[in-house]
Amino acid sequence: MRDPFSLNNKTILVTGASSGIGREVAIAISNQGGRAIISGRDEMELNKTYEVLEYKEKHAIEAYDLMNIDGIQAWLTSIVKKYDGKLDGFVHCAGMSMLKPLFLLNHHEIDKIMKLNFQAGVELLKHAGNPKISLKGSSFVFISSVAGMMGEPGALAYCSSKAALISAAKTAAIELARFSYRVNCIAPGMVKTPMLQQYEETLGEEQMEVLKRKFPLGIGEPKDVAASSVFLLSEAARWITGTTLVVDGGYTCGK
Ligand SMILES: NC(=O)c1ccc[n+]([C@@H]2O[C@H](COP(=O)([O-])OP(=O)(O)OC[C@H]3O[C@@H](n4cnc5c(N)ncnc54)[C@H](OP(=O)(O)O)[C@@H]3O)[C@@H](O)[C@H]2O)c1
Repeated sequence: MRDPFSLNNKTILVTGASSGIGREVAIAISNQGGRAIISGRDEMELNKTYEVLEYKEKHAIEAYDLMNIDGIQAWLTSIVKKYDGKLDGFVHCAGMSMLKPLFLLNHHEIDKIMKLNFQAGVELLKHAGNPKISLKGSSFVFISSVAGMMGEPGALAYCSSKAALISAAKTAAIELARFSYRVNCIAPGMVKTPMLQQYEETLGEEQMEVLKRKFPLGIGEPKDVAASSVFLLSEAARWITGTTLVVDGGYTCGK
């Protein structure tokens, strides 16, 4: 019987694959038989991801700085040409966080976080959501956050960028359904990655302990988010589009 979760013969672009969640997403894709095109800026870290992929030879590294939004169309076109085959989707994991209360935020900082977390994702979707780049049935996944679904003091810019992805996925799901493309978000709670480490350093131990207690199943691992992205990329999710899959160890249940 065919495994509905298999990614056999599927080519998936993974942004943010040089670290944390993105690295684990690339590994999960390779474990499910897919081909991962891994991206980020840090080539050394991308190589570390590449080294742990199953059947290395079929995967590829494509370093790219997503702050260069105007170059995204040409970059995607070059990927399709270089590897002689269209995409079956992407997982946009690249992102940055920012802890700053409203009265200290300036609009340049808001621009920066919106550009990477939101606009780069939309630009990827705009060009990957084209039959010249992606095959019929492709699945596009944005890594949003529970922060995009609720308020978090000191994280206005981050929360807004993640909420914008959730909203974009809904509209794009309707617009792109004519190509049988699906667009979904994953909203993780706190996951053990270098990004969380940064967060811990800013908040301090005491405040982190209070936060951690709000997670009935504890803090997540990158592989918990990766498994959900495999599901959304696979045939098993063929009737799911425009939705946000919350993967948060029960954090939002208590709200
Ligand atoms: N960890 C959490 O608790 C948590 C919770 C909810 C949602 N998320 C979301 O999950 C995603 C992954 O986060 P993470 O925790 O795995 O963070 P991470 O370990 O800090 O990874 C961030 C990734 O983004 C890439 N990136 C940053 N700036 C980039 C740029 N200009 N161009 C291209 N790539 C860039 C980094 O690669 P390079 O440095 O190589 O460019 C890195 O691979 C993010 O969108 C984050 O908001 C995380």
